[in-house]
Amino acid sequence: MPLDIVVGTQWGDEGKGRVVDLLSSRADIVARYNGGDNAGHTVTVGKQTFKLHLIPSGIIHPRTTGVLGNGVVIYPPTLLTEIDMLRNNQVEINPQRLRISHAAHLITPAHRALDRAQEAARGREQIGTTGRGIGPAYTDKAARRGIRMEEMLDETAFHRRMIEHVEEANQFLTAIYHAEALDPLQIADEYTRAASVLREYITDTSALLWEALQRGQLVLAEGAQGTLLDLDHGTYPFVTSSSPTAPGVLPGLGVGFGYVNRVIGVTKAFQTRVGAGPFPTEVFGETATRLRGTGANPWDEFGTTTGRPRRVGWLDGVLLRYAVRINGLTELVVTKLDVLSGLPEIRICTAYRINGQEYTDLPLGPADLSPFEPVYEEMPGWGGDISGARTWNDLPEEAQNYLTRISQISGVPVCQVSVGPEREQVVDAQCA
Ligand code: GDP
Ligand code: IMO
Ligand code: MG
Repeated sequence: MPLDIVVGTQWGDEGKGRVVDLLSSRADIVARYNGGDNAGHTVTVGKQTFKLHLIPSGIIHPRTTGVLGNGVVIYPPTLLTEIDMLRNNQVEINPQRLRISHAAHLITPAHRALDRAQEAARGREQIGTTGRGIGPAYTDKAARRGIRMEEMLDETAFHRRMIEHVEEANQFLTAIYHAEALDPLQIADEYTRAASVLREYITDTSALLWEALQRGQLVLAEGAQGTLLDLDHGTYPFVTSSSPTAPGVLPGLGVGFGYVNRVIGVTKAFQTRVGAGPFPTEVFGETATRLRGTGANPWDEFGTTTGRPRRVGWLDGVLLRYAVRINGLTELVVTKLDVLSGLPEIRICTAYRINGQEYTDLPLGPADLSPFEPVYEEMPGWGGDISGARTWNDLPEEAQNYLTRISQISGVPVCQVSVGPEREQVVDAQCA
């Protein structure tokens, strides 16, 4: 049963790219199943840092095939730029190594314009989207008027379809949002040029994955975003428009239930969020600056896709337990433990309090977290640098205790701990 799944347990940016890169050394195929170029996954290999938005992080390993599944939404200009960027960095990309589902939907400039116009119209109720057209593209998919990759195969029909799509979007843009109309011909021409390059990459990726799984090959499903940004199970409406959780893998890749083996939750050692929405353990002031960093380190908490400063806070054990339940996690990888080094004390939220009553599990999902007050447990921190730790015994006792507590609260083992962005900066926690 060789399908392993990597998901974020928080609001994204947990270090999924880094963990997928780590696990990809053994994988035959790495497949993205949700989201689009709203994602920003960072992989550091020696002196090279790759910031990937669409192409699966596993592609850096020369033996791995990358798949963009049917659940993904694709903005061709980003995909083409990313292919160039990888080639310029000696990562081979060709239609044998990168396969794109015929059923994946396209994001167009019209979707991007609508995303921005809709955000502006929300006024103070803004979601803080990445402006990448994600919501409008998935809206068109659900409304059964989206454009799929397979339509690129017929050049004339595709060109005509793009013109019709932009003309229709222009009506919404101008009449409802009083935004500027886009040029249908220019966009149709640009997309038809992109189609001539991307055509060769298009295939039935569900069939490809089925054959690989039947052969016993290892497929790694790479989630984008995180559990709390899930359209159904996240902090609705402050969510993305796809299903980043593990159950989203099946429809997002077109694979059946029987193959799933490990479901690996990536958890940052503290909590971050970019964009609007509830965040019970959020901190401000000096502690926030300390957790976020100043931007001097490449891993400081500023968005990979938008550059926005991320909101920061203490690890939320209630939401972590929720992520374990929604995803059926079998294990955790804790990332960025090194960032907590030097803090005199570390807090972890173990329950929420409302009207004098404490809850260790959410009574009614995470959509309305505003009435809750977090209940914290304080643990002593550790001094010194842990980025050189490679074994459990290299970690200070206080760090070991923190990891053990995460495991107790979540109810699943912590199997690996990342102590820096580099490939080798990882501690095998032997499932603490
Ligand atoms: P993703 O969206 O979940 O893939 O995460 P991002 O790539 O957006 O953000 C994670 C950031 O933290 C990246 O800059 C990574 O290189 C970096 N990173 C990952 N793991 C660690 C770690 O253990 N320690 C440190 N210091 N940085 C890390
Ligand atoms: P990775 O894969 C963090 C957030 C946006 C916004 C909300 C909706 O790097 O973890 P959207 O553009 O998707 O309609 O925006 O979701 N968001 C992310 N936050 N990491 C991401 O991806 C995100 N992708 C979307 O900030 O709050
Ligand atoms: Mg990211």
